[in-house]
Amino acid sequence: MKMGVIGGAGLLGSTTAFCVGCKNLVDEIKLIDIRENMVTSHAMDLTQAFLPLGGTKVTPAHYEDLGDCEILLCAAAVPEGKIADRNESLRKNVNLLLPICEQLDKYCRKDAVVITSAAPIDVLTYVLWDSLKWDKRKFIGFCANDTLRFKWATELVTGKHFDKLDALCVGEHGDGQVRLYDQMEYDGRPLVLTESEHERIEEETANWFARWQALESGRTTGWTSAVMMTAYIEAIVKNSGKVFPCSTVLAEQFGYEHVSMGMPCKLGTGGIQAVLDPQLTPTQKSALAQTADKISGLITQAGF
Ligand SMILES: NC(=O)c1ccc[n+]([C@@H]2O[C@H](COP(=O)([O-])OP(=O)(O)OC[C@H]3O[C@@H](n4cnc5c(N)ncnc54)[C@H](O)[C@@H]3O)[C@@H](O)[C@H]2O)c1
Repeated sequence: MKMGVIGGAGLLGSTTAFCVGCKNLVDEIKLIDIRENMVTSHAMDLTQAFLPLGGTKVTPAHYEDLGDCEILLCAAAVPEGKIADRNESLRKNVNLLLPICEQLDKYCRKDAVVITSAAPIDVLTYVLWDSLKWDKRKFIGFCANDTLRFKWATELVTGKHFDKLDALCVGEHGDGQVRLYDQMEYDGRPLVLTESEHERIEEETANWFARWQALESGRTTGWTSAVMMTAYIEAIVKNSGKVFPCSTVLAEQFGYEHVSMGMPCKLGTGGIQAVLDPQLTPTQKSALAQTADKISGLITQAGF
């Protein structure tokens, strides 16, 4: 199996290529970027790094080389800078994405799985799908970090071990994410939090992005994203059927349409094999409906 990475010289593209190669999940990774010298240097470096780890080949590439890729990771983006909200990148990243869509349409297999990470991912996942018009199940917006962070904060506050926690965020990869407290489990049993624990977890998760941006490091969460992105890719390559939160284009499923947003999705060969019903409470349903309206409005604003 082969994978193409657009934006392969960037942080997320290169760290994901590194993690995928370390796990020897694909035979070849093809890197595309407008910074050709950087992409070539990553390819030279990674190919040698992978020799003792299974030998994944890494090559600098152009769109016409992507015809045999079954997985396409679209991590190309404008430099993010200091932003308070991921939606600030919307117009610039839509303009960047449209010519990329033309190239993907021209050169790529229509049954390739397309994973996108660029902000704002819910809108961009919809734009990718609407521009290419391939099967909806092929389009996956990367939002797994939100659920990871929710579990991280729960471990931090309660001391309950991450590995035994079951928790999920749905909705927007941004302020409109809905953390499903009522469905949390620990070691297979319902996890009931105290009011103070609930408040502290909310504070840790809701303020996380602002704390990160205040560092003004100029980088995104390259390591976390690479690990979680690789978990998606592993599920697809191994056809594991594992469930991950993914931004997915919905067509009247669960009452939502003209939207892509985070929902629990079963991943395997071909991409999203099923979108699962998150079994929301009435309060969660109304929060998610608001989020869906917000994302749908942004999609309209983007001209789709
Ligand atoms: N969904 C998430 O949880 C999550 C996490 C981290 C980052 N992100 C987002 O992913 C995107 C990438 O992040 P990053 O840290 O890798 O950014 P980055 O700036 O390091 O990398 C972006 C890369 O895209 C390349 N690029 C720009 N225009 C291009 C084009 N037309 N064709 C090909 N390549 C092009 C740039 O040269 C650069 O190498 C950003 O939008 C970021 O906000 C999302």
